[in-house]
Amino acid sequence: MLTSGGDAPGMNAAIRAVVRTGIYHGFKVFGIRKGFEGLIDGDMAEMNLRSVSDILNRGGTTLQTARSKEFRTEDGVKRGVAMANIFKMDAIIVIGGDGSFRGARDLVNHGVKVIGIPATIDNDIGCSTYTIGYDTALNTVKDAIDKIKDTAYSHERCSLVEVMGNGAGYIALNCAIADGAEACILPEKVFDINEDIILPIIGCRNRGKKHYIIVLAEGVANAMDISAQINEITGISTTTTILGHLQRGGSPTTRDRVMASLMGAKATELLSKGVFNRIVAAKGDDIVDYDIVEAIAMKKTIDPSIIETSKILAL
Ligand code: F6P
Repeated sequence: MLTSGGDAPGMNAAIRAVVRTGIYHGFKVFGIRKGFEGLIDGDMAEMNLRSVSDILNRGGTTLQTARSKEFRTEDGVKRGVAMANIFKMDAIIVIGGDGSFRGARDLVNHGVKVIGIPATIDNDIGCSTYTIGYDTALNTVKDAIDKIKDTAYSHERCSLVEVMGNGAGYIALNCAIADGAEACILPEKVFDINEDIILPIIGCRNRGKKHYIIVLAEGVANAMDISAQINEITGISTTTTILGHLQRGGSPTTRDRVMASLMGAKATELLSKGVFNRIVAAKGDDIVDYDIVEAIAMKKTIDPSIIETSKILAL
C-alpha cells in the first residue's frame, strides 16, 4: 500500500484499515514510503497489527507521500513495475487523488494489480461522491472563516478568503454556505468581478449589511488584486487571507475516519475475493467499486442550483 499526491486527513485511518483487515483476510501487508517514489526505490516495510496503533486520529500520512515526477515517465513506471515484481506483490493499494489513480492505471497497463482508494481534500474525484479528507478540510476552513468573520464584524470590513480546491469549487462553495459568505468565486463559472463580487457587496450594503466575507477558490484570480479592487471600487476596507496548507492538516473528523476505515476495509475485501484493478468509491451512503479505467473517465460537477441557493442565502 502507498499514499500518493497531496496528503489528506483520514489517510492514516485508511492505512490502519488496510493493515488490520488485510491481515484478517490472510495477507502480508507492506507499507511503501513516499508514494510512487518509494515504489521505485523499493522503500517499504512489512506492517503488523500494532504498526498502525494510535494513528487513527492523526492528520497527514504516516507512510508519507510525494508527487513523483519520475513516476510520470515511462522509465519511472517500468522501475516501479520491476520493484512490484521483485517483491512479488499480489496487488498495490493506492490511496490518493486522480493523479495517483492515473499512476495506478499505468501500473495496471504493465500487469501490476491495483486497488485505488479516493483521498483528497478537494473532493474532485469523478467516480466518488466523497473523498477522504474533504470533511476535515471543510471544517478547518469553516473554523478559520468563523474567526475571520469575528474581526470583519468588529471593524466593518470585507474579508476575502482564498481556499484550496485544485480547479474544483467543492471546498469554496460549501464553506461559503457554511459561513454565510456574501459572494463565492468558483472555477466552475466564468468570473466577472462586477457581477460576482462588487454588485453582491453593494446589494448587501444597501440591505443593511456592514461586513462581508468573499470566498475565492484558488487559481481563479489573484486574491490580493481582487481585494485591492474591492477596496478601490466600494471604499470598503478589505483584508486578504490565503488559507494555504493549513487546510490539509489536522485530526480527521468522524466522517473522514469512518469513510476511510470502510473504504480501506472494502479494498482488502475486494482483494480477498480476487477482484483487482478497481477504485473504491462512495455512492451516497454506500461504498461501491468501479473498474479503474471507467472510474478515471467519470466526471462529476457542482449542481448549479446549489450555487444559486448560496446567493439567495447571502441576501
Ligand atoms: O490536491 C490537494 C491540494 O491541496 C490542492 O487543493 C492544491 O491545489 C494542491 O494540493 C497543492 O499542492 P502542493 O501541496 O503540492 O503545493
